[in-house]
Amino acid sequence: MQTRSGGVEIHFEVHGAGPPVMLVHGYPLSGALWDDVVPHLASEYRVIVPDLRGHGRSEPTERVTMEEMADDLLAVLDAADEERPVVLVGMSMGGYVALAFCRRHPERVRGLALVDSRASADGPEAAEKRRATAAQVLEAGTAEDVAEEMAGKLFADGADPGLRARWRESMAATSPTGVAAALRAMADRPDSTAFLRRSDLPLLVTVGSEDGITPPDEARKLAANVGATLEVIDGAGHAAPAERPREVAEALRRFLEEVG
Ligand code: MLT
Repeated sequence: MQTRSGGVEIHFEVHGAGPPVMLVHGYPLSGALWDDVVPHLASEYRVIVPDLRGHGRSEPTERVTMEEMADDLLAVLDAADEERPVVLVGMSMGGYVALAFCRRHPERVRGLALVDSRASADGPEAAEKRRATAAQVLEAGTAEDVAEEMAGKLFADGADPGLRARWRESMAATSPTGVAAALRAMADRPDSTAFLRRSDLPLLVTVGSEDGITPPDEARKLAANVGATLEVIDGAGHAAPAERPREVAEALRRFLEEVG
């Protein structure tokens, strides 16, 4: 299905029926990240899976902010006729977008799960590196180099080589405009830690035990700091929903049962 938001076409899928859950992928991935998680949830929940702007089948724009991507999610909920508050599940950059959504549209959320993600902002060096990568991607006119680098970092060392190869190919096909815009949006995102500490939303933090991008220690600190439940997914790297979909779904189901 698709809708328009901020002048661009945003693609999404809806599966199952029940209380609504939205699964938001990371950078530079697509809603397909959740393909093997969805079947474990759709028997009891209405699962809404968008492609973020500039990713998957959703159109890119030269510039975007986390807030605009959060508003794209609101447009998706409206297009899906979903007025009930959702449980938002955001993997990595999807978590940054989910946090922006919670700040902007608190009445539309009833729980937040951060999957291999963080609430802090980039430091100056990390932000500068992202801006430099954005410029390189635009100059090269392809996301090939980013795909190569990310394919090496997304999964645990022992991950299925076929999974790594499939995602490498998918990331390489992502629009360079979309990749560069997402990199700049991540560089500019605010710190949401204080917001989460103040929030009374039910919170879950999950992390792959082998995640090298948002390491388990950082996730542990975040969970303790904001009063979230922590679930460590054994053997998974950063892209835990693709690598260990059943375990990620089980952690989400436990959270969803709690949230109601
Ligand atoms: C992601 O997986 O979305 C990115 O690795 C997030 C990041 O680089 O901060």
